[in-house]
Amino acid sequence: MQQLKDGEPGTPSVEDFTLAADPWALFSAWLEEAQRSEPEDPNAMALATADADGLPDVRMVLLKGVGPDGLVFYTNLESAKGEQLTGNPQAAIVLYWKSLRRQIRARGPVTRVTPGEADAYFASRHPESRRGAIASRQSRPLSDRQTLLSAVQELAERYDEDDIPRPEHWSGFRIAPVQLEFWQNGEYRLHDRVRFTRAGDGWERARLYP
Ligand SMILES: Cc1cc2nc3c(=O)[nH]c(=O)nc-3n(C[C@H](O)[C@H](O)[C@H](O)COP(=O)(O)O)c2cc1C
Repeated sequence: MQQLKDGEPGTPSVEDFTLAADPWALFSAWLEEAQRSEPEDPNAMALATADADGLPDVRMVLLKGVGPDGLVFYTNLESAKGEQLTGNPQAAIVLYWKSLRRQIRARGPVTRVTPGEADAYFASRHPESRRGAIASRQSRPLSDRQTLLSAVQELAERYDEDDIPRPEHWSGFRIAPVQLEFWQNGEYRLHDRVRFTRAGDGWERARLYP
């Protein structure tokens, strides 16, 4: 996407991302570009949560849905992040694409996806990933790797590939952003930033100093 200055005569404002009207269209456009240029996991994002003491925590997850309903990722509900989100259903994310020198940040309240959505996404995963989701007691101590491998093997013997059930402890969360920010690297640290803040059914847009 071409970088143009605000108000420069003769420049089509549609090219300037800081003048975008719809953050979701901009999000999709940047993600599509990243899918073409990032060597690995263009949908990887850092997910920040806070524990019961308010101590922040952060880890990478994969963004699996994006649009006006929010940002969806999947995980183990009994993991550290799952427990933190149950106690304090708010989160922040950041995606950073080194190939494009761009980041997107978002934060807002979090809800669980519907069982139907979780079933549909679970069914789309590789059988090995589905077995792993059942077998993994994510974030809890594991005595040795073989214990996990044996549990996965046992599931391979118990279930046909088409009948691996989604476990109760595995589902998705949806972040409904109250703020979204887009950042593009500029020369000599003169970066471009635009922040969208929820205002009723729409968004308030503000360009920010870098
Ligand atoms: C690129 C990348 C993508 C990941 N995607 C996910 C994911 O979508 N869901 C998930 O539960 N963990 C994912 N992980 C593992 C998490 O970063 C983390 O180790 C795990 O979820 C346990 O986190 P917790 O103990 O804070 O709950 C991913 C890790 C990396 C490096």
